[in-house]
Amino acid sequence: MSSKFTHIIAVSNQKGGVGKTTTVVNLATAMAACDKKTLIIDADPQGNASTGFGIKYDQRDKDLYSIICGVDNTKVSIKNTMIPKLDIIPTSPDLSALEQELVDIKNREFKIRDVIKEISDCYDYIFIDTPPSLGLLTINALCAAKSLIVPLQTEFYALEGLSQLMKTLELIKNNFNDQISLKGILLTMYDKRNRICEMVSNDVKNHFNNKVFKTVIPRNVRISEAPSYGQPVLMYDISCSGSQAYASLAGEIINQEKDQI
Ligand SMILES: Nc1ncnc2c1ncn2[C@@H]1O[C@H](COP(=O)(O)OP(=O)(O)O)[C@@H](O)[C@H]1O
Ligand SMILES: [Mg+2]
Repeated sequence: MSSKFTHIIAVSNQKGGVGKTTTVVNLATAMAACDKKTLIIDADPQGNASTGFGIKYDQRDKDLYSIICGVDNTKVSIKNTMIPKLDIIPTSPDLSALEQELVDIKNREFKIRDVIKEISDCYDYIFIDTPPSLGLLTINALCAAKSLIVPLQTEFYALEGLSQLMKTLELIKNNFNDQISLKGILLTMYDKRNRICEMVSNDVKNHFNNKVFKTVIPRNVRISEAPSYGQPVLMYDISCSGSQAYASLAGEIINQEKDQI
């Protein structure tokens, strides 16, 4: 076995629209720009991460679903993106059938882990995008990952549901994957003119103190425009505040890991 350490990071929150996919697409791009060989696994049947890189539906026949079903092997489904050093395993809507299909299957929690096992040595970072639920796909992502990033939209109801997610993390840790830990909570769509954002941010820091990333992702219209061009925001507009924030998040994570060695 190789001694290479691969950071495998699930990005999850059972709420939709909090910035999971945006974080996967842009943090992975920023990591690749820091010369880290990076892979995205799109484990949300909606396939927004795949769309975010302009991957058309007819290019998604070899996808996460076909690998898990054993029709294709992992290597053939890996696609290069337009970003050097950044690859993706895309998804198709077929993946939505998987949760039902796996119900009676042995080791159903470890399908994504098995997919990663074959190729993880080739990468420094692997990011897994997850659907807005705590169903079997998210559980698979948490069983495969070494850490979890939780994007939290800085709005009034942000903390709702977070305790359920933390309970799920404990459950996974105790039963399936004792390596996993919370890497950090990421405040997203922060608007400094909005007092609620400041209140929520203080609240989250009180609850989770050193587990909240120092980098905060601002609300930035360029971030929301970029996917319609099939590009990460770092490519669409490198100088905007959203790009700068994701670049600084990548730096924060790399530095954190240096401290841990
Ligand atoms: N920081 C941000 N500023 C502005 N819009 C954002 C930001 N982050 C995400 N968005 C937009 O909000 C929507 C939901 O984000 P997305 O990453 O798809 O959430 P999730 O994957 O959690 O459902 C998308 O339209 C996205 O472009
Ligand atoms: Mg998403």
